[in-house]
Amino acid sequence: MKSMTRRQFIVNSTVVMGGLIGTGIVQPGVTMADEIEFIESACEKEGKKILVAYESNCGSTSGVAKAIADVICRQGIGVDLRRIGNITDISSYTGVVIGSAVKSSAWYPGVIGFVKDHQDHFSRIPVVYFLTCLALYKDTQKTRELAQSYFNPVLKAVPEVKPRAMEAFSGALDYSKLNMVVRMIMKSRMEKQGIPEGDFRDFQKIESWARDTVLPNLTAA
Ligand SMILES: Cc1cc2nc3c(=O)[nH]c(=O)nc-3n(C[C@H](O)[C@H](O)[C@H](O)COP(=O)(O)O)c2cc1C
Repeated sequence: MKSMTRRQFIVNSTVVMGGLIGTGIVQPGVTMADEIEFIESACEKEGKKILVAYESNCGSTSGVAKAIADVICRQGIGVDLRRIGNITDISSYTGVVIGSAVKSSAWYPGVIGFVKDHQDHFSRIPVVYFLTCLALYKDTQKTRELAQSYFNPVLKAVPEVKPRAMEAFSGALDYSKLNMVVRMIMKSRMEKQGIPEGDFRDFQKIESWARDTVLPNLTAA
């Protein structure tokens, strides 16, 4: 059998894992899943009912979805906040916010699948999309265009669903929540791009979007 040095092994493993993550064969895992909070809540009100559906790996997108749901609730509209894998029945909702963390320049495949599975209902009710990513760590015209392009895969996969608004938010990077291999790959990529570890979510921006864009679009008669 051909032997290889430790350095060659690490380089080869990184290339292989990078390829597998890129193709979606390997999903980015977490090492401390118990400590990651995926928030779900229900705000009961009379009349219209909104669903805020999200997917998140390390929890930061869950926090963004929660902030959006809280704004809707404070305005007196009923809202359920749910992680996508836990949603079974969507028939009672009059409007929906769908959001995902970005991996490999797109929403998680499961989120695209969720839109596809419910496209009949989602093409009859108002829908808005959001995402979290690290491209927006630097806020420039170029990074805003790049972040918006992350919606293209879902728009292409399910053209029947036409979101009334789409917003990209800056997310968070916490290496302690990534498994060893993903952490290694992300560290090398982020260092090249000059993106440090940290929480870059702008809750003022998120809440303004929820109030000024989500609410009017999802509750218009
Ligand atoms: C494996 C992996 C791949 C990622 N790919 C991208 C990417 O292609 N573009 C980008 O802007 N951000 C990318 N990110 C950054 C995440 O979208 C960002 O950290 C997000 O806030 C994570 O949300 P979460 O905490 O809800 O999982 C990636 C993160 C990981 C861990």
